[in-house]
Amino acid sequence: MSLSVVILAAGQGTRMNSRLPKVLQPLAGRPLLEHVLNTCAEIDAGEIHVVIGHGAEAVREAFAGREVTWVEQPEQLGTGHAVAQALPGFANDDIALVLYGDVPLVRSTTLRELVAAARADHIAVLTAKLDDPTGYGRIVRGDRGRVTRIVEEKDASESEREIGEVNTGLIACQVRLLRKWVGELSADNAQGEYYLTDIIGMAVRDGLKVRTTQPESKSEILGVNDRLQLAELEAVLRRRNADVLLNAGVTLIDPARVDVRGTLECGHDVTIDVNVVFEGNVKLDNNVSIGPNCYIRESQIEQDCRVLPNTFIDNAHIGPRSQIGPFARVRPETYTGSDVRIGNFVEVKKSVIGKASKVSHLTYLGDTTIGKNTNIGAGTITCNYDGVNKYRTKIGDDAFIGSGTNLVAPVEVGDGANIGAGSTITKDAPAGKLTVSRGRQTTVEGWKRPEKKAK
Ligand code: UD1
Ligand code: CA
Repeated sequence: MSLSVVILAAGQGTRMNSRLPKVLQPLAGRPLLEHVLNTCAEIDAGEIHVVIGHGAEAVREAFAGREVTWVEQPEQLGTGHAVAQALPGFANDDIALVLYGDVPLVRSTTLRELVAAARADHIAVLTAKLDDPTGYGRIVRGDRGRVTRIVEEKDASESEREIGEVNTGLIACQVRLLRKWVGELSADNAQGEYYLTDIIGMAVRDGLKVRTTQPESKSEILGVNDRLQLAELEAVLRRRNADVLLNAGVTLIDPARVDVRGTLECGHDVTIDVNVVFEGNVKLDNNVSIGPNCYIRESQIEQDCRVLPNTFIDNAHIGPRSQIGPFARVRPETYTGSDVRIGNFVEVKKSVIGKASKVSHLTYLGDTTIGKNTNIGAGTITCNYDGVNKYRTKIGDDAFIGSGTNLVAPVEVGDGANIGAGSTITKDAPAGKLTVSRGRQTTVEGWKRPEKKAK
């Protein structure tokens, strides 16, 4: 007996006011549906069926290469109808787990409990008691608190609307039974839809006990119908991620002002200041500190580094004890050794900077390799692009590049070479020598400023 999952994701999401299908709206930088799929990966889910309708093509494309079975529901005739579209692909002995593509924060532990309850009793519903149950289907209980049915708000009587226990929409049920009950659904209700929830009453009619389980946290059942709810969920997820970091020993100056859009791995004694965004997979080693207003994507920063305020680091590897920023832009394929400095208003792209070299101010390094202990003066520019092709600049160990130098690539500066300030270097500069390339300074003796002519 294995598990088959069906994720309902065909709805339009009219209230999002967007051209993007609802399940592609980003939450913490990833589509809503991706969160649900990732949670499925944490439980022992067999085949995953996703029912799509609105924007089906876009949804398929967004998840190309991912192992899911797409099921089209061209017309959205209700949750029961949606499940019916997926059922032909299910094995009778399996347990079916019904999830919603727009309920992204449900935890894997909650799903495991729900599935376990269905194994024992054949049908289980995830419910929650809410202070304000408006909009949800209500769980109707009879004798000794037994569930008798679920009633949708639009079909509920006044007293039924008083019920605080709601249907989250997530259920688990043996496929054989689900198939039978879904086949009996009718659309004879206030919304003229095939309600999946009607199977609960059928289960009771057939003499089965309906079990209910509850999530550990009510935030798990929150759905996204509009942008207000999306923003609320973003805050919930931000706080969840922050709590994981805090519990792992990371110092967050303000847990409400750190966004993790992907995975963040931290060593011990890492400190993260306010307004920092991490994207993709980021690794911060021991004793790293990140200043305020930084954006760090797909990068590793080794131990004892200091990233100063307003720094952007993308697809880079920063060696230990380095200091980056403030206001630095480190672009993809940048690798630094240890003890490196990249200072303010410095842009680095596709470059290697060796141990203890310094690029402190107002510089562009593109397609450059720099050795150890080299100093790059303020305002140095590698001219790496001729408008068509890109070329590399190579600078050795212990070199000194004077301020305001242009290095016209391809070009090489040898070990221990000095370049005079203001040079435009178009030919290789030999090791251990001073190379200067600029107009000689002259002073014109006896020169006078022109005077205004009398008319
Ligand atoms: C549903 C439940 C309600 C529950 C609530 C929880 C039913 C009849 N009602 O109501 O008891 O409290 O969820 O949020 O099940 N979908 C399809 N195809 C369809 C219809 C819906 O794929 O034909 C998908 C939607 O994209 C969405 C999910 O199913 O992801 C739920 O549909 P929605 O219309 O939002 O159901 P509710 O009316 O909120
Ligand atoms: Ca809904």
